[in-house]
Amino acid sequence: MCGIFGCILKDGTAAPLIHASLKRLEYRGYDSVGIATINNGEIYVKKDQGKIDDVHRILNLDDLPGNIGIGHTRWATHGAPLKVNAHPHTDCTGQIAVVHNGIIENYSELKLELENSGHKFVSKTDTEVIAHLIEETATKDPSLSFTDAVLTAIKGLDGSYAIAVISTREPDKIICARNESPLVLGVGENGVYCASDTPAFLPITNKAIFVNDGELVILSPTGYEIRKVCDSSSVAREPKIIDWTPEMAVKQGYPYFMIKEIHEQPLTLRNTLRLQEHYLDLISTFLDRANEVFLVACGTSYHACLAASYMFSKLAFLPTYPVYASEFVEQHGKSVNIDSTILAVSQSGETADTLAAVTCAQQRAATILGLTNVIGSTLTRVSRVYIGQQSGPEIGVAATKTFTSQLSVLAQLALRLSKKRGKISQDEMDYLEEKLEHLPDVVDTIVKTQEEKVKQIAKKYKDAKIFFFLGRGISTATAYEGRLKLMEIAYVPSIAFPAGESKHGPISLIEQGFPVVFICPKDGAHRTLISNIMEMKARGASILAIVEEDDEEVKKLADDYVEVPKGIPEVLSPIPFAVPLQLLAYYMALERGHNPDTPRNLAKSVTVK
Ligand code: M6R
Repeated sequence: MCGIFGCILKDGTAAPLIHASLKRLEYRGYDSVGIATINNGEIYVKKDQGKIDDVHRILNLDDLPGNIGIGHTRWATHGAPLKVNAHPHTDCTGQIAVVHNGIIENYSELKLELENSGHKFVSKTDTEVIAHLIEETATKDPSLSFTDAVLTAIKGLDGSYAIAVISTREPDKIICARNESPLVLGVGENGVYCASDTPAFLPITNKAIFVNDGELVILSPTGYEIRKVCDSSSVAREPKIIDWTPEMAVKQGYPYFMIKEIHEQPLTLRNTLRLQEHYLDLISTFLDRANEVFLVACGTSYHACLAASYMFSKLAFLPTYPVYASEFVEQHGKSVNIDSTILAVSQSGETADTLAAVTCAQQRAATILGLTNVIGSTLTRVSRVYIGQQSGPEIGVAATKTFTSQLSVLAQLALRLSKKRGKISQDEMDYLEEKLEHLPDVVDTIVKTQEEKVKQIAKKYKDAKIFFFLGRGISTATAYEGRLKLMEIAYVPSIAFPAGESKHGPISLIEQGFPVVFICPKDGAHRTLISNIMEMKARGASILAIVEEDDEEVKKLADDYVEVPKGIPEVLSPIPFAVPLQLLAYYMALERGHNPDTPRNLAKSVTVK
């Protein structure tokens, strides 16, 4: 995730301090770095692709002049990790410099308008439009102060942003603003600071002011002034003392990255609704034309593929084959051909098994499509078209927020394909799109209302020797994912099956008190699933059900239950239903004394076959 930082110092030059502060934001993950300062009416910029230390070794980031500046660590979303796409971005005149964290949804439209007005763009980023838009606003109405030009310009932006802007027109100020991306101010003895996150300035000052959505801040040598973007009115807000250690601050007060990332899902899901339409369209066109489609991935990403096979089938009537990447060459290596299409799904874009499957398919002239979280990864380079799922870096080894984001992107693809193929009515489409848009709030509700309950359930089952996870239809994928999470971080041996399969063998394991987790959305399989619950109960199993809040029937049968809001369409159900299972694995790991962020024997990205 991008990191921004800015400072105005009373004493000393800004660049070395910005450099040091960006180092403290490294944990957010990044691929490029840059700094801009102002001195004697001129803006100076140094930036490049690469790690801070490497870029500094070549460019010497510290020798930029001036006591005011902004800096950025970039995590690519629009445009590859290249020097030209690194921030800060400037306008045509080089008198405005901007750093940005977030996604400008309407950047293509804005870019076209600005290009038609004569603006010259150099990068592929969404951020560059902000610099040109401010320039255009200030040129059109020269009576506006620079601050008011920024305020007016950002009213034209759709999407998420935390920005910091400097200009030679008001060289003693930094203007920052926030909408749905984090922004915090610091107030110290020697200056004022703005940053994506408190660790950036924590060693300098522990006095912080959190900026809210829809607010703009003017930093100046005399302090800070907060205004509402909608009506320019002033907002009074006093600093708070941050008593976190630097380590706590990096995790925003959470004890582990995994729980921080589980809590981030409302935000990351919102970001998946801001994908570039163009790429969704292109991929759905390729899928529509394909003779056969393989959905290829490993681990959690495979579970997203399994769920997607139900989405594509149910919404777009497209049969697809989810395949474990590690099995692809053996299973399909001889038959994959020029008419085959591979949709490879990999959070890291670097998983060796997934890339081996892709290479095999590519050698046999198949079309490769990609879905990944890391722009610039190998998968993005070998794919004909790819989508970046925009979840931000995931630090916990166990995939959580990236799983629900993958599901959201795959659901959007299935919907598009369905529309393209004329398999869905407008009413149905509108209904599902509305439900998809509402999912971030649904997940927010689950985390807020069910976490404590899951914590208690984990206490109850902490000594369980084994777990079953069962679901039907698309919930089979959710069951598999629940099992993987529990096994990999809490080290509880677990089994997952389509619920209908249990009576063909696994049920023989059941004895008194055996914990069985049922994934119970109120979908077409609900009634049959109830029969499966009865079968398990009859043999003494302890039933833990993940249910919709109005599902009184299953609640009565279950020993314990966790609720998700009602009315989730079947094809979207793995997103909310996965969340209690992530929490269960997390709290079981804690109960059993394990660090959920760094499970033994596992790596975040598995780059060996
Ligand atoms: O980066 P990828 O999505 O390709 O990674 C695939 C698996 O290695 C990954 O999902 C793994 O199973 C995680 N430990 C799941 O939490």
